[in-house]
Amino acid sequence: MPEPLDAALTEVRALLLDPALTRAVAAGRRRGQRPTVVRAELRPVTLKAGPRLQISTSDGARPYTRNVAPGAEAGAAVDALLAEPFGNWHVETADATLQLRVTKSGEAQVHRAAASRPAPEPGGHDRAKDWLLDPGDPLFAEIGGSAAKRRQVDAFLRALAATLPDDLTGPLRVVDLGCGNAYLTFAAYRFLTGRGLDVDLVGVDVREDQRRRNSELAGRLGWAERVRFVAGTIADAVVEPAPDLVLALHACDTATDEALARAVRWGARWVLAAPCCHHDLAAQLRSRPAPEPYDLLTRQGILRERFADVLTDALRAGLLRLHGYRAEVVEFVDSRHTPRNLLIRARLIGTAPTDAQRAEYRELVGQWGVTPRLATLLADPPSLTAPHQPASVGAPRPDSPTRRA
Ligand SMILES: C[S@@+](CC[C@H](N)C(=O)[O-])C[C@H]1O[C@@H](n2cnc3c(N)ncnc32)[C@H](O)[C@@H]1O
Repeated sequence: MPEPLDAALTEVRALLLDPALTRAVAAGRRRGQRPTVVRAELRPVTLKAGPRLQISTSDGARPYTRNVAPGAEAGAAVDALLAEPFGNWHVETADATLQLRVTKSGEAQVHRAAASRPAPEPGGHDRAKDWLLDPGDPLFAEIGGSAAKRRQVDAFLRALAATLPDDLTGPLRVVDLGCGNAYLTFAAYRFLTGRGLDVDLVGVDVREDQRRRNSELAGRLGWAERVRFVAGTIADAVVEPAPDLVLALHACDTATDEALARAVRWGARWVLAAPCCHHDLAAQLRSRPAPEPYDLLTRQGILRERFADVLTDALRAGLLRLHGYRAEVVEFVDSRHTPRNLLIRARLIGTAPTDAQRAEYRELVGQWGVTPRLATLLADPPSLTAPHQPASVGAPRPDSPTRRA
């Protein structure tokens, strides 16, 4: 039954300012009226300075995130949002969920329910939690994704958080290569903007239908100006300006090599790539005898495949080192959530490779008689023939993100 709007909004206000708030979203518009922002989201965060209410708004073009202190500041910010003619409010606290829809006649249709799941700890950048992005975040209602995919994405974001400097500031250009349904793309955008960064993100996938779907989703989220999608191959898609940060989650087979090669060519400062299936080196190992005395490693098909996986990622990391990156291969998520749980994580340091690095790479490919796809894409690392100052490295680009002084 419809209720007076003012009374219902007073109830919403109390919930928004309640310490038990877990999240709230305002969106839509009332008949004949238009809010100044298309969407607003509120959630508690815990910063070094203490608890804050994080308010993220979007005017349809640019997101804006701020953290307000509890008390008068939060009260004023909440009052300003409640004065906007939003058509819907969705508010969740530890104890209850309230959904308010403004009817055509300007009354409130309110649905109240007891909380259906335990409340998460207030979010924060500096405390241990099970999740970096709460799986109940309204974002996931829009982007979907299985529980396993959410877990992978969350773990990937943790690895990202551990890679970027804490004091990073300035605009950050990001690309997600082989983005598929863009779960990681959208989650990364939410996470990075939540850290207060000004993010411009491009998702690349060879499938045009994915581009259309993802672009529509970005529009619905109010992020269309900052999260764009391009249909094209990872090797050739036009991404301008060049990104600072390259992400790739389970880009198939040698698409991961394309992603790493593009990252090197762009001179990206950070690269996180979780490889998927590896067929290229497995086929090369199958077509020739193993060097003595390693025949036992590749005689059985399953061992050959697993060995090819290890060899592929070891050589990828080795090649990145030859191109000025500090590279490591880590497990980013438990294998319960995906057997493809390795992550190649690299940071541009811009130093020339050592003789030992050149030699270890050369000897490994030489002994096994393989040509990694990444080496071909990088057109035979010059480091193999002569001491080499990587062409694509050096000082960060003048317009790249900086660290707070
Ligand atoms: C296994 S899906 C992973 C999608 C997404 N990153 C995720 O983890 O949910 C791999 C995606 O990469 C895309 N892809 C494969 N090879 C590609 C290439 N060479 N260029 C662009 N996209 C590619 C596929 O179309 C597919 O959407």
